[in-house]
Amino acid sequence: MTDAGPTGSDVRRPAGGPPPGCPAHGGAVPLSGLAYQQTPSELYRSMRREHGVVAPILLDGGVPAWLVLGYAEVTYVTAHDELFARDSRRWNQWADIPPDWPLMPFVGYQPSVLFTEGAEHQRRAGVITQALEGVDQFELAQWCRSIADQLIDGFAGSGRAELMSSYAHALPMRAAVQMCGMPAGGEDTEDLVTDLRISLDAGEGDDPVAAYIRVQERIQRLVREKRSAPGPDVTSRMLTHPAGLTDDEIVQDLISVIAAAQQPTANWICNTLRLLLTDDRFALNVSGGRLSVGQALNEVLWLDTPTQNFIGRWAVRDTQLGGRQIRAGDCLVLGLAAANTDPQIWPEGHIGAENSAHLSFSNGEHRCPYPAPLLADVVARTAIETLLERLPDTVLAVEPEELTWRPSIWMRGLTALPARFTPVVR
Ligand code: HEM
Repeated sequence: MTDAGPTGSDVRRPAGGPPPGCPAHGGAVPLSGLAYQQTPSELYRSMRREHGVVAPILLDGGVPAWLVLGYAEVTYVTAHDELFARDSRRWNQWADIPPDWPLMPFVGYQPSVLFTEGAEHQRRAGVITQALEGVDQFELAQWCRSIADQLIDGFAGSGRAELMSSYAHALPMRAAVQMCGMPAGGEDTEDLVTDLRISLDAGEGDDPVAAYIRVQERIQRLVREKRSAPGPDVTSRMLTHPAGLTDDEIVQDLISVIAAAQQPTANWICNTLRLLLTDDRFALNVSGGRLSVGQALNEVLWLDTPTQNFIGRWAVRDTQLGGRQIRAGDCLVLGLAAANTDPQIWPEGHIGAENSAHLSFSNGEHRCPYPAPLLADVVARTAIETLLERLPDTVLAVEPEELTWRPSIWMRGLTALPARFTPVVR
């Protein structure tokens, strides 16, 4: 499937310059750096002005790709998987990518649902969809309430908490673990949380590849346990589904489900809490209204969506998009955050937070599978409502402008969310 197109050797010979049509051609924008990390919306605006709706970008190490910034173009790319497909082995840049490339956890081919295509994707995604449909939303809300209570009990007496690590990250991981039938509060749960974070969003000194291997080993153990003792959980429903997935396929897909559930839901919670704690429109209402939590959750999906960029799709053949010549095997990054704020759909600059036609859950065959956004909403809403109910006078412990975003171009979330409140002992 590797298709070394004419762009294959561009990164190695910058002096000669890339051929026309290559994403490295004509002032490609390095998709990293502090300006991008702190104020991506401004960067998207200037990229759109300078490069149009499909911009040439450079990923880590100067690897060329396209960033799809337009709402219509992201919708088109995701709706046409026969033209823009998911199997990353198509990439025409593999010859230049070292095995320890930092984005390898996202793009390195894995035989999981994420990289399958056509009928095979329908089979794999169908099993996940049905297994998730079996999750009772009221039961999930109860689990989340009890997980939230335990986490809050851990810091309520101190009057201060760093809500990102002690709450927003910890809660969806425990919820995902419980959905999949892993013992809640088990000894290795925290290790799994840490390893997932490292493999998806490695910081300085982290080893994302080693972390991913540890995640894989833990999930293999879970699948073996559920083969011998099935229960009312996502893992067991996948194992007993008539599509007859192998254990290896189930391990791969469970990792996709848990990773997909943990990181974006954690950042959705965190970004919504930030909005509630910093924006007067919400601060005035939170103690009284559930509705305002729902509005804040939806507004975040428009303006501060967790999966701000998603890598990606790979062109099946030479084609055109947004006035650009795309070569077979080129990589396209879905600019979900940019698409959500596209001036073509919001000419007045006003984002309709009450409407939910954003692309935060993507679109098309590979979009976040149907029950998942509903389950994520239950998790995020319960997390936020429980916190505000238990600690109603929660305020930021720093000035809003002191909050910093994690140095990730993929996930939008804070490095920390320090808060204070009146200490409460149960
Ligand atoms: C219970 C929580 C969640 C679960 C179980 C879940 C599960 C999944 C799975 C299995 C996929 C892969 C679909 C495929 O390739 O066929 C996926 C994709 C995706 N999910 Fe979710 N997800 C959850 C929450 C979220 C949240 C909160 C967001 C963002 C707000 C999100 C955004 C996405 C996006 C952008 C994709 C990529 C789709 C693409 O390739 O176009 N997910 N999710």
